[in-house]
Amino acid sequence: MNKIPMVIIDNNEKTRIQLMELLEGVNYIELIGDFDNLLVGYDFIAQEKPQLVIIDLTENTDLALEIVEKISKIDKNTVIFACSENVSTEMVIKTMRCGAREFLTKPVILEDLNSALRKARSLLTADTEKTTGEIYSVFSNKGGIGKTTLAVNLALQLNELTGKRVCLVDLNLQMGDVTTFLDLNPSFDIAYITSHISSLDESFLFTSLEKYKDRDLYILADPPYVEQAEEISVDDIASVLNFLKSIFSYVIIDTSSSFDIKTLTCLDMSSRIFLVSMVNLPSIRNCQRCLTLFKRLEYNEDKVKLVVNRYIEDDEITIDDVEEALNQEVYWKIPNSYFSVMTSINKGVPISEMDSKAGISKNFAQLASKISGITFYDEEDSKEHDSVNFDMASVVDKFKNLNLPFIKQRS
Ligand SMILES: Nc1ncnc2c1ncn2[C@@H]1O[C@H](COP(=O)(O)OP(=O)(O)OP(=O)(O)O)[C@@H](O)[C@H]1O
Ligand SMILES: [Mg+2]
Repeated sequence: MNKIPMVIIDNNEKTRIQLMELLEGVNYIELIGDFDNLLVGYDFIAQEKPQLVIIDLTENTDLALEIVEKISKIDKNTVIFACSENVSTEMVIKTMRCGAREFLTKPVILEDLNSALRKARSLLTADTEKTTGEIYSVFSNKGGIGKTTLAVNLALQLNELTGKRVCLVDLNLQMGDVTTFLDLNPSFDIAYITSHISSLDESFLFTSLEKYKDRDLYILADPPYVEQAEEISVDDIASVLNFLKSIFSYVIIDTSSSFDIKTLTCLDMSSRIFLVSMVNLPSIRNCQRCLTLFKRLEYNEDKVKLVVNRYIEDDEITIDDVEEALNQEVYWKIPNSYFSVMTSINKGVPISEMDSKAGISKNFAQLASKISGITFYDEEDSKEHDSVNFDMASVVDKFKNLNLPFIKQRS
């Protein structure tokens, strides 16, 4: 592992040397500068951008705090330890708010320093070394096309099939539906994380995510109030996604239908975009627009995968027609399964959990299998469930039998 570059600013020569002596025994730290002057030290940090900084606040506290804040703004991933002889609760809170991650009481003892360094190391290596996860976005520039249906069921099936840790993110920041689809009432959401972005580490992340039942599936919910979406910056989104990627094997993102800068950032960071369309002219035309934009952004066919939702066999427009119009192969077809999908949404239970034998559940499992490369064993022949014919009369009957309170019986 590369050593972590570190800088010390402490105008007390005795304690500075003591600190340097303690650090000599830590083999993963490389001290690249030590300063007795706050401003000189800051200039060096602005130029060299070390990953770790220890700064003394004992004298000249206000200026030191200003510098802590400035350092954290240069790069919010820089880990800052503050230390001081004078410690009070207010002082610690104030320092943390400025962007410091640890507060060490002077004289610093080896045990405290080691514990803080260990935490810093796991945080810094999480950012640089564990970036193994895949970010898959589900997108369409048309609303109501089935993005959330796909994102939710894909996340669930990827977890089910691979047993790996999956995070489902609702980036439809103003009108997210993921928690409704899963019948969750999360205590925290993405706005909470982004408003505490400097505290973002693994333990903070997991307390802010909603675990789905007993699965290794975690949900990052959209904010409860529309205006909170505005407070989340593009940089915040990029930081959160990068961090999630270092922790989860799969990060599945349900997006909004607009080409705003936040959505584009998320698409840009994705290794794959599942572009959802239906087989009708308005939808295909919108898809064309998307593909033209994606071409300009230099997204290739490896990255953009076409998914046709609500597919009906023997439809007037065929899959060949769609491929010809869009000049791209259809990667996946999801059958039209109105009753299963609506019941699942209304009950807040994903289709694959509600009825794992249904054709559409198996379809999602097969998609997860295609994506992950892990074989999905179908226990029985699924042909009878794969029927994609739309029979309105049977749907109405099934709904009546459900006795959902909000469905009025027509006379
Ligand atoms: N495969 C399917 N078969 C039948 N109906 C479906 C299917 N997929 C989605 N639907 C229907 O389409 C509606 C919209 O689905 P969904 O909410 O997943 O779309 P969305 O693109 O996320 O919408 P929004 O733009 O509002 O976020 C659902 O209410 C559901 O009834
Ligand atoms: Mg949606």
